[in-house]
Amino acid sequence: MEFKEVVKNRYSCKKYSDRQVEDEKLTAILEAGRLAPTAKNLQEVRVYVLQSAEALEKIDAATPCRYGAPTVLAVAFDRENVFTYPGGKRDSGAEDAAIVATHLMLAAADEGVDSCWLNFFDPDALSAALGLPENEEILMLLDLGYAAQGAGPLPNHTSRKALFETVIYR
Ligand SMILES: Cc1cc2nc3c(=O)[nH]c(=O)nc-3n(C[C@H](O)[C@H](O)[C@H](O)COP(=O)(O)O)c2cc1C
Repeated sequence: MEFKEVVKNRYSCKKYSDRQVEDEKLTAILEAGRLAPTAKNLQEVRVYVLQSAEALEKIDAATPCRYGAPTVLAVAFDRENVFTYPGGKRDSGAEDAAIVATHLMLAAADEGVDSCWLNFFDPDALSAALGLPENEEILMLLDLGYAAQGAGPLPNHTSRKALFETVIYR
């Protein structure tokens, strides 16, 4: 798909059918995450593919926002291997993970797979439930699947501020 079409077609899907994401499509999505840039090329981001009944139960215990998606990706980063920016106030962990997550989300749209970015969960509690290493922090979850019949974008999907409200030329 043309990049402009990918960006236009993507929306947050909040009701999925049972249809599982095909392995080739999932691999293409994960590959797009692998190619994402990270600060200093640290590549400290980890992507967990959650598909087993046991793992999905843990997601459902952590958030009401799986919406029946048969695959959920958890994007985490290694807190002990981030680049701290000059000034010492911020580091690359959350940013690198967000870039990887954005690649995954847009690649899903390119593959015709529906998705929803989730942050409505307690990352520490979910990390513990999934048994992630102590040094890893979950940034976000990405629901993946196919929209249930009749499901589509919510009305707010088309409600975006005009460029002049968000872009400032100086
Ligand atoms: C950082 C971030 C966190 C989000 N967290 C959630 C969430 O926890 N649950 C949910 O249902 N949607 C979540 N969303 C989806 C947004 O609600 C959605 O992107 C927004 O309303 C615009 O709709 P659209 O993606 O269809 O254009 C999140 C989106 C972003 C970018």
